[in-house]
Amino acid sequence: MTAQPDAVRASTNAEQPRRHKLTLLFYNQPDKSVVLEVDEGTSILHACMENAIHLQHNCGGVCACSTCHVIIKKGMENLPEMSDEEEEQLDEAIGLTLSSRLGCQAKIYGDVTALIPDQSIYLGR
Ligand code: FES
Repeated sequence: MTAQPDAVRASTNAEQPRRHKLTLLFYNQPDKSVVLEVDEGTSILHACMENAIHLQHNCGGVCACSTCHVIIKKGMENLPEMSDEEEEQLDEAIGLTLSSRLGCQAKIYGDVTALIPDQSIYLGR
């Protein structure tokens, strides 16, 4: 018989990363939204970069600037708690809110909706 035993099938399925929905809203385009399916543990910045969505990241995603600032609209509970380093960097973010996070530090563990703030301040447009 060539069928896999249940235990083998279960372990194969366990290796598949869980996927979650990341909905992105855009400050400069209020009518636009983009829904991405991302692997669990993917940062918001990484998801944007993988999908050609501009989110500034001057330090390259190492929590040393605040240009990847995003505002979480839904699903804050699906992100890890903020580290002291992230909190310090966020203090420098333009337009800081109570639901602000750094996109490079905010890894997704459930469905999340995030607003990408005005990026023109970085692009000079
Ligand atoms: S890219 Fe610099 S802190 Fe996120």
